[in-house]
Amino acid sequence: MRIVCVGGGPAGLYFGLLMKQAHPAHEVSVIERNRPYDTFGWGVVFSDATMDNMRAWDVKTACEIETAFNHWDDIEVWFKGRRMRTTGHGFVGIGRKRLLNILQSRCEELGVELVFEREVDSDLEFPDAELIIACDGINSKLRNRYAAAFAPDVVPRPNRYIWLGTRKSYDAFTFDFRRTEHGWFQAHIYKFDADTSTFIVETTEQTLRAHGLHEADADTSVAFCEKLFAEVLEGAPLMTNARHLRGSAWLNFQRLICGRRWSHFNGRSHVVLMGDAAHTAHFAIGSGTKLALEDAIELTRQFDRFGHGADQIPQVLAAYEEVRRVDVMRIQNAARNAMEWFEVVGDRYADTLEPEQFMYSLLTRSQRISHESLRKRDRAWLEGYERWFAQRCGLNIDPADRPVPPMFTPYRVRGVTLANRIIMSPMAMYSAVDGVPNDFHLVHLGSRALGGAGLVFGEMTCVSPDARITPGCLGLWNDQQAAAWRRIVDFIHTTAAKAGLQLGHAGRKGSTRLAWEGIDQALPDGNWPLISASGDSYLPDGALARAMTRADMERVKADFIAATRRGAAIGFDVLELHCAHGYLLSSFLSPLTNRRTDDYGGSHENRARFPLEVFAAMRAVWPDDRPMSVRLSCHDWTDGGNMPDDAAVFARMFKEAGADLVDCSSGQVSKEERPVYGRLFQTPFSDKIRNEIGIATIAVGAISEADHANSIIAAGRADLCALARPHLADPAWTLHEAAKIGVKTIPWPKQYLSGKAQYETNLERAAASGPQT
Ligand SMILES: Cc1cc2nc3c(=O)[nH]c(=O)nc-3n(C[C@H](O)[C@H](O)[C@H](O)COP(=O)(O)OP(=O)(O)OC[C@H]3O[C@@H](n4cnc5c(N)ncnc54)[C@H](O)[C@@H]3O)c2cc1C
Ligand SMILES: Cc1cc2nc3c(=O)[nH]c(=O)nc-3n(C[C@H](O)[C@H](O)[C@H](O)COP(=O)(O)O)c2cc1C
Repeated sequence: MRIVCVGGGPAGLYFGLLMKQAHPAHEVSVIERNRPYDTFGWGVVFSDATMDNMRAWDVKTACEIETAFNHWDDIEVWFKGRRMRTTGHGFVGIGRKRLLNILQSRCEELGVELVFEREVDSDLEFPDAELIIACDGINSKLRNRYAAAFAPDVVPRPNRYIWLGTRKSYDAFTFDFRRTEHGWFQAHIYKFDADTSTFIVETTEQTLRAHGLHEADADTSVAFCEKLFAEVLEGAPLMTNARHLRGSAWLNFQRLICGRRWSHFNGRSHVVLMGDAAHTAHFAIGSGTKLALEDAIELTRQFDRFGHGADQIPQVLAAYEEVRRVDVMRIQNAARNAMEWFEVVGDRYADTLEPEQFMYSLLTRSQRISHESLRKRDRAWLEGYERWFAQRCGLNIDPADRPVPPMFTPYRVRGVTLANRIIMSPMAMYSAVDGVPNDFHLVHLGSRALGGAGLVFGEMTCVSPDARITPGCLGLWNDQQAAAWRRIVDFIHTTAAKAGLQLGHAGRKGSTRLAWEGIDQALPDGNWPLISASGDSYLPDGALARAMTRADMERVKADFIAATRRGAAIGFDVLELHCAHGYLLSSFLSPLTNRRTDDYGGSHENRARFPLEVFAAMRAVWPDDRPMSVRLSCHDWTDGGNMPDDAAVFARMFKEAGADLVDCSSGQVSKEERPVYGRLFQTPFSDKIRNEIGIATIAVGAISEADHANSIIAAGRADLCALARPHLADPAWTLHEAAKIGVKTIPWPKQYLSGKAQYETNLERAAASGPQT
């Protein structure tokens, strides 16, 4: 085959040499616009796993790269006058020039034709090639030629960065955060050969402009950075090798996803994307070169699998794309979290978090490194952090004792102290008659209270008969219900748990069947009239709700007040107002469900007016020493709906109205929603609201292990974690998770004590005997 790689970066060179090695009869050329050894950039990092992969494919290249590597384990963070260090992180760095030189000379050795200083404008310049690799980087001309086929989606990210180098050697991957009068700058610094380090400086557009750097030439920018980072540089100068760049030396990172296909047949040749031409990750997790090299490996693997003939090309390209898309998406997800962390770091974390927690947040920014993975990397550092965190929560830890992990620290809010940070999230059980709690609810909620959660929430409890979702929903509009609730709350108070009441009104989602008889489906008979912010239905063919009048508002508000009074008298410790999931109050907040033109529709202020009226009225009768939370849908997951920025606006309003906590849920507002589920998928909303608005938050959604909860609480992404489904699977989730991570100090109910040691020993034995086959 005749193969042409357009672009002599890591992708093109490595693919060229792998194919030539696999099948010497191939005629392979790599065409590069630059001169040999001429390149932009300094060092790149990648992981041991990438090296293992490369070793399996070409030992010689791998060995040469390995001898040129600089390996280091530590991360050091300079922040607010502190220098904090942790170890066990294992990176390797190599100069980009060095890497390219190794790949170039290996190409020459194997007989790959290298053509330099040739600018390629089109794939049609190579009519004899059966296969053309478009590995011409992020601004790929070849990809852009076939934009309709590849559907590239390029998003310039808001931050600006400049990629510099310095002849100073750092023995750790170093981050330095510096505040100026206009905002924060951060430097990402890593050594890549004996005496040179990469030095990337990043800031927001706003801060850059405030300093006039958007118009500055490279020399002025270098001088600015040298002055700002003088301490970490210890007088060493910074260098740029990007003088060729037109315009500002400060770039916007381009996040690229190719939505349609990665290959295209131009009538003569197959053109396939590889490396940065196909996708980008972000330097915050340093994976671009790794992805480029792994693309090259995968395409070679598929030729080995299906055969090295031109006839096999379509099959090979399809298989290559299928495999690589999954891996790339995984890395892009992690990169997105890390990239976004650096985009908001100034206002959201640097200005608000203490240095210790700031560092923890930085280390876990991609959300792929968790609490337990930090323990594996650097136990001493992690335990030091746990000790610091526990002391901040008022615990006195004996230096000889293992500190309690963050999720087991107590949490005080107003006059209520929760024994730990775990909440059983409200869950409708559809098992009441006339809204009255019964033995099922006593056993259900009681067993979760015995199971160790710090706070046990009852399900959405409705403020009137027509506020119910289904005839099986719980209520608190009469004395019979109050008496039955009191029995449950009194029982919960015999355990270590506190009792939470979630009050709500179903609005247009009411009058439906029990979940297991048809969720969201209208009752076959016995329906009640529905009200909502505007007149519409939840399901396209569902019952129509009537838009609320002012008189309706007065009645509903009175119902909430009456239920709040009852809840206070019963002795609930925490009260939550349900303003999420498309129910009545949520229908006011979302523009998808609120199309009012009066004072209750339109702006954020108007949409929040009625929910805030209800909240304020409840707060006025709820005891001062007991906290209130508000549950919000922080993302409607559909066009035109609320986004996290809107949720933050509402969170601020509720904070000002006296809310202590925001419970950060999402969705269920519109049937059109397309939520992006995944581990901890709603935690970013909690993180944003907590650290931007300065109100305590509850994270909820796909939190299922102690490791998740510890990572969230330790990083300050939430103050509390609510778990729903895990508590259905295991009433004693909290106690069991404590045992699983070897924490023995969490008390079990005295009646169950005899089971504790045996449970812990069995887990220890299972762990010692290793994974079962
Ligand atoms: C600030 C920064 C830091 C980074 N840090 C890291 C890191 O630590 N670790 C890491 O793994 N990755 C890092 N990367 C990403 C990494 O540099 C790229 O992902 C990687 O180089 C991609 O390889 P590639 O071969 O696909 O593309 P490139 O390396 O971009 O190579 C493309 C080549 O094609 C040539 N070319 C382009 N157009 C034409 C044309 N029309 N005709 C002829 N030749 C052409 C270019 O000159 C270039 O040599 C970083 C990137 C940036 C911006
Ligand atoms: C059976 C069931 C019933 C639920 N009922 C309620 C409810 O009454 N009020 C509420 O705010 N959320 C309710 N939810 C949502 C949960 O509180 C929680 O936000 C969601 O399940 C995500 O958490 P998880 O991933 O831990 O399950 C319910 C969830 C389930 C599974």
